[in-house]
Amino acid sequence: MAKTVSVWVALAVIACYLTAISAEETVESKEFVLTLDHSNFTDTVSKHDFIVVEFYAPWCGHCKSLAPEYEKAASILSKHDPPITLAKVDANEEANKGLANEYEVRGFPTLKILRNGGKNVQEYKGPREADGIVEYLKKQSGPASTEIKSAEDASNFIGDKKIVIVGVFPKFSGEEFESYMALAEKLRSDYEFGHTLDAKHLPRGESSVTGPVVRLFKPFDELFVDFKDFNVEALEKFVEESSIPLVTLFNSDPSNHPFVIKFYNSPQDKVMLFANLSGEGVESLQSKYREVAEQYKGQGSSFLLGDLEASQAAFQYFGVKESQVPVIIILSNDGKKFLKANVEADQIAPWLKDYKDGKVAPYVKSEPIPVENNQPVKVVVADTLEDMVFKSGKNVLLEFYAPWCGHCKNLAQILDEVAVHYEKDADVLIAKLDATENDIEHPSFDVKGYPTVYFRSAAGNITAYDGGRSKEDIIDFIEKNRDKTVPQESVKDEL
Ligand SMILES: *[C@@H]1O[C@H](CO)[C@@H](O)[C@H](O)[C@H]1NC(C)=O
Ligand SMILES: *[C@@H]1O[C@H](CO)[C@@H](O)[C@H](O)[C@H]1NC(C)=O
Ligand SMILES: *[C@@H]1O[C@H](CO)[C@@H](O)[C@H](O)[C@H]1NC(C)=O
Repeated sequence: MAKTVSVWVALAVIACYLTAISAEETVESKEFVLTLDHSNFTDTVSKHDFIVVEFYAPWCGHCKSLAPEYEKAASILSKHDPPITLAKVDANEEANKGLANEYEVRGFPTLKILRNGGKNVQEYKGPREADGIVEYLKKQSGPASTEIKSAEDASNFIGDKKIVIVGVFPKFSGEEFESYMALAEKLRSDYEFGHTLDAKHLPRGESSVTGPVVRLFKPFDELFVDFKDFNVEALEKFVEESSIPLVTLFNSDPSNHPFVIKFYNSPQDKVMLFANLSGEGVESLQSKYREVAEQYKGQGSSFLLGDLEASQAAFQYFGVKESQVPVIIILSNDGKKFLKANVEADQIAPWLKDYKDGKVAPYVKSEPIPVENNQPVKVVVADTLEDMVFKSGKNVLLEFYAPWCGHCKNLAQILDEVAVHYEKDADVLIAKLDATENDIEHPSFDVKGYPTVYFRSAAGNITAYDGGRSKEDIIDFIEKNRDKTVPQESVKDEL
């Protein structure tokens, strides 16, 4: 579970960490977006045929940037006929967490489209700025598939920036047509669907077909693909598979972001090359990378090419510095990371082969080992976790924290006092680890929110500390759980 969340969140492209931290500020309610909470959610939703709900957290930066756009869209859509309602729920609020669970909110913001008084739920997969939100929601609230009656309709509808699926039929009835409509209804929040009686209207592909055929238009690779099996499941699989680019491009162009999200949600190994795409000599790097992607197509890996400029959040997450660019990072489907810094075009294929052959060691993000570590609470980083916590032969209380977390700051003061209390006791170590800057690969630690505190007794019993947060509570706990006798050989030199 922790793994899934962290992978999902990995690149922090569009979502914030889902953590149990306090709201540091409150967003004042505005005019057009409805504020809902656990007390009136169901009631309100049941009165709407179509309503959009944003689950947000007040501390989340991506939510803050969405807020004015969402509000603007709400004001425009309130004048639509019929009006379209946009609502929001503070999912960080304790009382609303049940709702957030029910709607499978795993990051912020999460937007859901609720139809039929809440009976049908779909993920909102549209843009994040006002005009885009308005366009997307107008389509979502209309029919699932749009009829294309002319070449002009088709060129307006299909364009060259997104995936559009068009069914060509001799008549708008019959089993194939029904299957197609069922598919459109099912996947409408992910893709745009159209249907036509005449393939001649369509911009690409064989125009003499009379159908039934499903043609998927895409802004990359082969530009369109046809499919003729009208089993809904087969259709769905076809759409999912054909809509992933050989290499997903991640830059600041928002029209790419739906593909980036697809990339992160895919269950495959994620191979990512980050480079300065306007830099010199990047073409050879790019073309070698494409070759490799082609070579490994259908073998369990997805490929992404990220522009340096758009990738800051990813770099922070992985602990990568700009001096390491061009860099390849792989997130394997079992949650491990692999990294090759300053990669050259000719090294891509051999390194990937080594990775596939299991010859590359996983990469663990770590802060540098502190030169001085003489405060009462000792600093642990990923590279010292083993030595300081597992091999020290001490009773260790370890706090996993995030620098931006308010509760962690309060706890830090208490831990300081606890550490001072034990300063003369060589068998007890009070320590902290910045979990945003260090990977915690150890299976004993399940860190889903901040702060998380673990205690490891000298003999190796590991317990999550969930007791009170006063100095006395913590000291009490340590006294009850510490091992008095420390095995002689595992005692190391004092720090
Ligand atoms: C739902 O309840 C909250 C808290 O009482 C309130 O702020 C909000 O305006 C209510 N929303 C609606 C639509 O009634
Ligand atoms: C990328 O390369 C271009 C051209 O060399 C340069 O002007 C730009 O500053 C580079 N961008 C970054 C973020 O380093
Ligand atoms: C480990 O710690 C837990 C919690 O304090 C305790 O219930 C358990 O008995 C301990 N196990 C051992 C082997 O000491």
